[in-house]
Amino acid sequence: MVWREKYQLSQDGWKFPGGFSPVQAGFQLCSEWAILDFHPGNRFPGSIHDSYRVTNSERENTRFERGSEVNDPAKNQAIIDELIKAYFMELETVLNYLANSVNLDGVRAEEIKKSLNADVTEELSHATQLANRIKTIDGVIPGSMQFDAVQATLQPPADTTDVVAVIKGVIDAEEAAIAQYEKIIRLSDGFDFVTQDMCITLLADEQQHRREFIGYLKEYEQV
Ligand SMILES: [Fe+2]
Ligand SMILES: [Fe+2]
Repeated sequence: MVWREKYQLSQDGWKFPGGFSPVQAGFQLCSEWAILDFHPGNRFPGSIHDSYRVTNSERENTRFERGSEVNDPAKNQAIIDELIKAYFMELETVLNYLANSVNLDGVRAEEIKKSLNADVTEELSHATQLANRIKTIDGVIPGSMQFDAVQATLQPPADTTDVVAVIKGVIDAEEAAIAQYEKIIRLSDGFDFVTQDMCITLLADEQQHRREFIGYLKEYEQV
């Protein structure tokens, strides 16, 4: 079992356990954070995993943070499971945005159709990023037989001029995506920084989508 711990430069210099000096040990510390890997039986870390710059507000916070176990297959699998859930959510969004972007009728629907059509490409790119990450962390991307549809409110309405129903369905889907990315961000905190970083970017995209459709809803509900 390898332990990964994260240390921050305090006002007195680097603080490491057991008198370990990374500089004496030949490690280059070029920034304010260091993430060290501790190997079994070794008093000192076997390697510096990563180090990176921090912002001024982070620098004020000089607390010691304990990291997570690196080789934790259960935790890795939990992250893979949630990434797969997010992957299917993105693909279901693609299906329903595409259907609604074509089905809707009328002058009032035109802007919504265009917007949904543009989002189809973006949501598909989200699914692609998730699939690549699942593969990178040793997961298997499932096929369609494992897919369970959940987007009840985003089904194409019987009345093809009911733009408001579609907008509300889109907001529901975006909120579900936001909740799922927040879940993965928390789950991967201190353990899988790349997955966490990717999900933060995806979260920002979904928040923007939600904002856009909340704006549409305001306008379309007035008429
Ligand atoms: Fe998305
Ligand atoms: Fe979205």
